Order: sequence, then structure tokens, then C-alpha cells
Amino acid sequence: MTGRKFPRGAGFDFAGTVAQAASDVTGLAAGDEVWGFLDGAQGGGPTGTAAEYVLAPAQGTSLRPRTVSAVDAAALSGVGASALGVLRDAIRLRPGERVLVPGANGGVGTAAGQVARALGGRVTALASPPHLDACATWAPSRPSTTTPPTSAAWGGST
Ligand SMILES: NC(=O)c1ccc[n+]([C@@H]2O[C@H](COP(=O)([O-])OP(=O)(O)OC[C@H]3O[C@@H](n4cnc5c(N)ncnc54)[C@H](OP(=O)(O)O)[C@@H]3O)[C@@H](O)[C@H]2O)c1
Repeated sequence: MTGRKFPRGAGFDFAGTVAQAASDVTGLAAGDEVWGFLDGAQGGGPTGTAAEYVLAPAQGTSLRPRTVSAVDAAALSGVGASALGVLRDAIRLRPGERVLVPGANGGVGTAAGQVARALGGRVTALASPPHLDACATWAPSRPSTTTPPTSAAWGGST
């Protein structure tokens, strides 16, 4: 249906150690600790990142900050870049502006809520009741409203 054939790799985000850099790549070398994500248009790339070795484009790869563990980095690169790309680069969120984050307990939602707060936004997190506590770690106000049938809004302030 998609036109793609098996074997098909899965996964976009990655963190790891450079095994080998192509000859035309600058700024990255074997042994570097890196993180990044594959171009979604590649459908996860020829391998996908759920693999021991990943063929990654240099433009989607950078040195991993020492303060971020490899495990955290592997979970953060795609969702973090999505949140930054929308909130900081596309809509250019300004301090004091209000942001509603649906799916606030999900990957993108968790990143978007925290990026919005860091940019000075007034964030309302929208999540299903079982997941409100997870949102409370970054939207620490008390639940403010409820919306049927299964979600509740958690109003976080800056
Ligand atoms: N992950 C990435 O790197 C990435 C990058 C760009 C775009 N995206 C897109 O962003 C979206 C979210 O991705 P994700 O990785 O954050 O997914 P995720 O971690 O699975 O989170 C999905 C979120 O959506 C909520 N949700 C599911 N069904 C819902 C419904 N019927 N009504 C309201 N909320 C609902 C979930 O809430 P419950 O847990 O309560 O069900 C959860 O909070 C997807 O469309 C994805 O394609 C993802």
C-alpha cells in the first residue's frame, strides 16, 4: 500500500558513537558521541534506527551534549526538534503568549510544553486523566478545567 518493501527499517531518532564518517563530512569523526534523527521522508531510512548500526545523514547528526545521556538523547532528538521547529522557528512564540498542548503526555507534547515554557509561553497541557501526573512535572499548576469525554486540562504557568 505504501509502495515500500520489506525489509523496512523502523525508528527515526538515534544516539550513539560514530563508527565511520564519510570522507566529505566535516565536524564529525569516528568515536564521536552523537545524536540525531533520520529524514522522515526516507521512511526511517534504509535501516531505521532500531538497529545496531545506522546510516545517518550528516545534516541530521550532531555532537551529543555531555549533559544529556545517550538514552535521553535517543528519545529527545525528533520530538525536541519538532517542538523547536514549530514554537521557536515557525510561529516564533513570544513571552506571555498562550499555548495549548494537546497530547501533552506524548513525545511531541512533552517536548512542546517544556519548550513553550522555556520560551516564556503560558502553557495549558491537555491530557487524559491517567496521564495528568506526568504533565505535572513540567506544568506544575493544579488541574484547572475538564473537557469531556476523557481529557482534562492542566494549566501550567511560567
Ligand atoms: N515523535 C516524533 O518525533 C514526531 C515528529 C513530528 C511529528 N510527530 C507527530 O506528532 C504526533 C504525536 O506524536 P508523538 O510521538 O508525540 O506520539 P505519542 O507519544 O504516541 O503521543 C500521542 C499523544 O496523543 C494523545 N492522543 C491519542 N489519541 C488521542 C485522541 N483521540 N484524542 C486526544 N488525544 C489523543 C495521546 O494521549 P493518551 O496517551 O492519553 O492516549 C498522547 O498524549 C503524531 O501525529 C506524530 O506523527 C511526531
